[in-house]
Amino acid sequence: MKRVRHLVSVSDLEPFELRQVLRIARMLKARYMAGERIIPVLRGRSVALIFEKPSTRTRVSMELAVVQLGGHPIVLTKKAMQLSRGEPLKDTARVLSRYVDAIAARVYRHEDLVELARYSSVPVINMLSDYEHPLQAISDMFTIWEILGRLRGVNLVFIGDGRDNVAHSLILAASMLGVNMTVACPPELKPDERILEVAERYAADTGSRITVLHDPVEAVKGADIVYTDVWVSMGEEALAEEKKRILRPYQVNGKLMKEAGKAYFMHCLPAHRGEEVTDDVIESERSIVWLQAENRLHVQKAVLAYLLNARV
Ligand code: CP
Repeated sequence: MKRVRHLVSVSDLEPFELRQVLRIARMLKARYMAGERIIPVLRGRSVALIFEKPSTRTRVSMELAVVQLGGHPIVLTKKAMQLSRGEPLKDTARVLSRYVDAIAARVYRHEDLVELARYSSVPVINMLSDYEHPLQAISDMFTIWEILGRLRGVNLVFIGDGRDNVAHSLILAASMLGVNMTVACPPELKPDERILEVAERYAADTGSRITVLHDPVEAVKGADIVYTDVWVSMGEEALAEEKKRILRPYQVNGKLMKEAGKAYFMHCLPAHRGEEVTDDVIESERSIVWLQAENRLHVQKAVLAYLLNARV
């Protein structure tokens, strides 16, 4: 029996598979830009998209990704499901597996995705949890590849909360693709050790350098990309004031970008201008945040096609 492929973590893909997904995305984007909007390799197949938290980019780009592959998306909010009345996730996973060809979910607790995947007989895709955001990171690697024409040896610097879900997924994706990743974060907000351990194992093969430090100015020297994310993630509202205080020295502003020379600026969005980034940086010529958002569509189509064994 064929193994069901999930994407709960970036590391659910082998490095060669991640490179293959990026190549598929490049081909799908080229065809889309040439006017081929529908490539119906998922005709007759359906994908459940479960949202426990708000979303703009992921919600729209995932629904369109399924439609443009000829499939049928079913968008579900937790509130509208029996999950909200106590039906266990493991029951939901087994029931949905009998209707749809994949389940994508945005959840508060990463463990909930792990539970969904354990009981699902169709692929489960992480659309963001409190631990990882793999679709964002894979898409960002695609954007970096598109902008710089290479990934190996690129210096990607993340400034802010090192425990951030996007930071975790970027560390994994970077280490799998030979990208050097530096995280500049407060000592109390370092990336999870388990993420760093997995990344170090990939890095031993790819030559990627993974560095965690605490001085943002030191971190951005020689950067090709400076990346940040919101300081207060969904579900962390009670910690908002404390996190803003700790992260204040890690704001990406014009002064820091000057230290970074010609580096591009990336942000997964939504952005909080005046907190993690200033308006002049996000609106600058070096900002590629809109391209990042655009590429979510193409990369997610590639992920869906790959996990569902659809020949494109
Ligand atoms: N970057 C991202 O995941 O955006 P949404 O929360 O709008 O989906």
